[in-house]
Amino acid sequence: MTKPIGAPPAFGERDITETDNDLTRQHTGEPIGERITVSGRLLDRAGRPQRGQLIEIWQANSAGRYAHRREQHDAPLDPNFTGVGRTLTDTDGFYRFTTIQPGPYPWRNHLNAWRPAHIHFSLFGSAFTQRLVTQMYFPNDPLFPYDPILQSVTDDAARQRLVATYDHSLSVPEFSLGYHWDIVLDGPAATWIEEGR
Ligand SMILES: [Fe+2]
Repeated sequence: MTKPIGAPPAFGERDITETDNDLTRQHTGEPIGERITVSGRLLDRAGRPQRGQLIEIWQANSAGRYAHRREQHDAPLDPNFTGVGRTLTDTDGFYRFTTIQPGPYPWRNHLNAWRPAHIHFSLFGSAFTQRLVTQMYFPNDPLFPYDPILQSVTDDAARQRLVATYDHSLSVPEFSLGYHWDIVLDGPAATWIEEGR
């Protein structure tokens, strides 16, 4: 099976700068695409917020192309979009990113295989013993039934928990649409985590 995702960014917890959680402001120009705000909480099984934990994301641009992949989808790069961000959860366990709606991309796992739009998340911090990697999806994507990664999560509820919810209160007037996605570290409502990462 073709490895479906790129290597996670290698960041430390230090030196997080102001634009690290705003992927629309990391270059001199603005990236192309629909701006989105993605926010949620990092929680344990009891619903307790996990504060001060490092959350990193990486994603394709609006055309479905990664800036840092060797095997490339033949879609345009965006010189104003790297697709990598990081932040620390706040005292209530919230993270928040401003970014661009990623495009779906083909991944040659089988004929006409396309990945639904998604954002890769990496969690790293004192609340758990190893780096955890997972993926967030967007609501109502028609590619869900065709995605072997999502379909490998056999529990319906667990699969649903990988899909963010549109949240109008997170939408920023005249700027971006908002999506809410919580991450639960353990317990019966735990977020699915990729094996062997
Ligand atoms: Fe991906």
